[in-house]
Amino acid sequence: MTARAQRPIGNLSRLAMCGVGHGFAPGHYLFRHLDIEFEANSVTGICGPSGSGKSTLLSIIAGWEKPTEGTVERTGIHSVRWVFQNPTGVPQRTALDHVALPYLASGLGRDHSEQLALQRLTDFGLRASAQKRFSLLSGGEAQRLMLARAVAGEPDLILVDEPTAQLDRATASTVNAVLEALAQRGAVVIVASHDQETLASCSSVLELSTDRASGDP
Ligand SMILES: Nc1ncnc2c1ncn2[C@@H]1O[C@H](COP(=O)(O)OP(=O)(O)O)[C@@H](O)[C@H]1O
Ligand SMILES: [Mg+2]
Repeated sequence: MTARAQRPIGNLSRLAMCGVGHGFAPGHYLFRHLDIEFEANSVTGICGPSGSGKSTLLSIIAGWEKPTEGTVERTGIHSVRWVFQNPTGVPQRTALDHVALPYLASGLGRDHSEQLALQRLTDFGLRASAQKRFSLLSGGEAQRLMLARAVAGEPDLILVDEPTAQLDRATASTVNAVLEALAQRGAVVIVASHDQETLASCSSVLELSTDRASGDP
């Protein structure tokens, strides 16, 4: 993937990396010379073997990690949500509670928040599980709940780290189907994965490989 010419895209979110490289030890880079543009309404995949730096690159994109070299330019990105590989929730709280919380935190009343949360759960095929406690959800349900909760925060940028790593094939397919729906809500969606089905559903894929770590462009 290479840099594309900049074009005006109104108020849409956009993120551009220029010459980004990163390493944790002096002289040793995980990747270098990344020139990429991520835009709203698209899903970009980041693939590569375990340890190639996928999660590190997500941290750089999120702004949590400063790259060793290069720049990251963010336009129209005010809020970021990260969906972790392992779903985390409050065991005794229901699925509905988890998705209603971002709406409550934004200042909406409980009824309105729960109504919107129920819509998000429906989008992710979880309506029937709305009253289930988090501890009783299956792995696939819990992962989709994390995606639904991320969307409820109405972020401009959603980073999803290995969403299907813990899931069986059928459940992974349901998660893959919602990634595109996430992007259609106007966010920049970036997914780190080595699942071929997930990558096939992305509009473009950046591969982190050993030659990314070499000193030469
Ligand atoms: N904060 C850190 N300090 C030192 N090394 C790290 C740190 N974070 C990750 N690494 C190392 O960087 C490499 C890439 O890690 P990671 O980005 O998690 O890869 P991936 O997500 O592709 O499996 C690994 O060797 C990991 O041990
Ligand atoms: Mg990782």
